[in-house]
Amino acid sequence: MKITVVGAGNVGATLAQRLIEKDFADIALVDVVEGIPQGKALDMRQSANALGFTHKLAGSNSYDVTAGSSIIVITAGIARKPGMTRDELIGINARIVREVVEKALSLSPDAIFIIVTNPVDAMTYLALKASGLPRNRVFGLSGVLDGGRLAAFIAEELNVNASDVVPCVMGEHGGSMVVYPRFTTVNGKPLADLVDEEKQKALAERTVNGGAEIVGYLKTGSAFYAPSASVAHMVKAVVTGSGVQMNCAAYLDGEYGLSDVVVGVPVKLGRTGIQEIVELPLNDDESATLKTSAEAVRKTITALNL
Ligand code: NAI
Ligand code: 2OP
Repeated sequence: MKITVVGAGNVGATLAQRLIEKDFADIALVDVVEGIPQGKALDMRQSANALGFTHKLAGSNSYDVTAGSSIIVITAGIARKPGMTRDELIGINARIVREVVEKALSLSPDAIFIIVTNPVDAMTYLALKASGLPRNRVFGLSGVLDGGRLAAFIAEELNVNASDVVPCVMGEHGGSMVVYPRFTTVNGKPLADLVDEEKQKALAERTVNGGAEIVGYLKTGSAFYAPSASVAHMVKAVVTGSGVQMNCAAYLDGEYGLSDVVVGVPVKLGRTGIQEIVELPLNDDESATLKTSAEAVRKTITALNL
């Protein structure tokens, strides 16, 4: 099996490292900047003796190395620079994602695409439309990361392990994302029964601002350790065909009363990608917040002028 990671920046290179260390597939790392994917791949290859992995890892500016991939992860893109509008960023990343999808798909027609590039919900929608693939084969990183952040904050608050938490964050990977305390459990108990409403609100707010909190510390660049770990978790579910449930940016076709939009929802991931979109029994208020979030994504999708 081969897995391609496009974009050898912070998220892409760290993901390539995590994947090669799992040793379940060959890895191809591609970037437009000359020397970067080659140099990073060479550096990682030289850790094989110490770490004991046996799969191959290639870095290149050409897509030739990606041929025959089963999974293609797109992390290629740019972050907003001073003076740049959000719409300009969307336009540039949309061009990048479209180009990557077309080039990668031509050499790996059976691949599953996992989109990371922001704004991820709209970029996943674009990748789906540009590829013409069925929706089970194109999905994005959102709830695994946002839920991972919520789990970390709950672990600190309740003095439990983060792995005791099953988080539930849905909707846009952005300002309108929704934390669901009734569907977030700690050792099997709903968060809504463990902390008062004020605390639930504070945990949700910190989760929504989780990415910005890290940017605030780093000053340049954004989070990449938890994002790359989250994608590796998604990739593992596909590679092993585990059918594990996790929240991802997925195209909805009537589920949750929403259509022709991508938002974060619980899905089961396996060898074919999304095996099932899981519909939680949301109450009216919970449903309304998801709809509001979906409308925010729809606005971004409209700005793409597809
Ligand atoms: P980065 O700037 O470190 O890396 C981006 C890489 O993409 C660079 O190496 C750049 O040369 C490369 N690139 C640009 N155009 C390309 C093209 N046409 N083909 C191939 N490579 C190209 O950024 P970082 O931190 O790795 O983040 C990558 C993207 O992922 C950003 O859009 C970021 O906002 C997003 N992100 C999304 C998350 C999510 O939860 N969905 C979480 C973390 C990051
Ligand atoms: C994050 O949430 C930048 O989307 C990225 O950290």
